[in-house]
Amino acid sequence: MFLKVLFSVLTLVSVTWAACDRATLQAATAALVKAQTSGNTAILPITVNTTYMENDTPLALTSGVLTQAMKIDLTLSLHDTTHCATFTEMIAASAAHPYVLMTRMLFSSNGSTITRIENVVADAGDWLFNAKGSLSNAKKESWGAVDAAKRDSREVIKAAGDAYLDSWADGKVKVPYGSPCARLEGGSYTTNCKMPVFPQEFISAGGAKNRRYIIDEEVGAVDIFNDFPFLDKMKPNGTASTNLVRVESGLIRYIHEVTICTNKNCGR
Ligand SMILES: *[C@@H]1O[C@H](CO)[C@@H](O)[C@H](O)[C@H]1NC(C)=O
Ligand SMILES: *[C@@H]1O[C@H](CO)[C@@H](O)[C@H](O)[C@H]1NC(C)=O
Ligand SMILES: *[C@@H]1O[C@H](CO)[C@@H](O)[C@H](O)[C@H]1NC(C)=O
Repeated sequence: MFLKVLFSVLTLVSVTWAACDRATLQAATAALVKAQTSGNTAILPITVNTTYMENDTPLALTSGVLTQAMKIDLTLSLHDTTHCATFTEMIAASAAHPYVLMTRMLFSSNGSTITRIENVVADAGDWLFNAKGSLSNAKKESWGAVDAAKRDSREVIKAAGDAYLDSWADGKVKVPYGSPCARLEGGSYTTNCKMPVFPQEFISAGGAKNRRYIIDEEVGAVDIFNDFPFLDKMKPNGTASTNLVRVESGLIRYIHEVTICTNKNCGR
């Protein structure tokens, strides 16, 4: 009885607090994919006040990659109804100019308009970039909704993603790697997800910082946009990077990383 009451109170609270609904956010990510496919940004719910960033640089949306029509071979989206935000990965492997795009969108409080778009736009020369590899490896994975009874909380999902990023600067951090676990890094694939601790320059620069999260409990995933120091020799204080992490029963199952390089493979 107590549990029943508690459950209905929690349900009521979550309904009252819901910032925006899933259907609204799903319509927006569908529009994003359609805009990228057609090169027509006018179909997005943007306003004159929508901020657009490409690889951390502010840009007019009309000068950005979204105006380049291209065939999208694979998409994967997260819908964060608590923070009214979305994440979309788009792989264009068969396009004349191949791309892997990782896009974060923020919305007005009821989800009706996009206030900000942060686009991490990877192409030839970016870290381990190989769109065909990204596509063939991502296709093997299962990113379907997690059964309602098996879903992890936002906190568990976020903590798993944070532990993974924290471990790059501190080998003592315990990361809940699953078995199996697979990481798609650029276009390369490994089933050994464990990362070594990066050199002191990475740690001194504050590690993976300016973390921006999109969490979707239904998909059991978080994407963390961050400033990644050290790797790009031209941007030692941090280059645009993003990590998509799928968690199953508290353990990391898949990781997709995209990191932008000023020069070919970050000068390494
Ligand atoms: C844009 O921002 C300005 C200044 O805050 C505001 O007055 C205006 O209503 C906004 N327009 C739209 C379409 O959101
Ligand atoms: C959302 O808010 C905007 C402006 O605040 C309003 O014009 C619009 O009708 C609202 N949409 C919904 C679905 O409530
Ligand atoms: C990196 O940050 C340091 C400390 O804020 C600053 O002195 C330096 O100029 C920055 N380097 C680059 C390449 O932006």
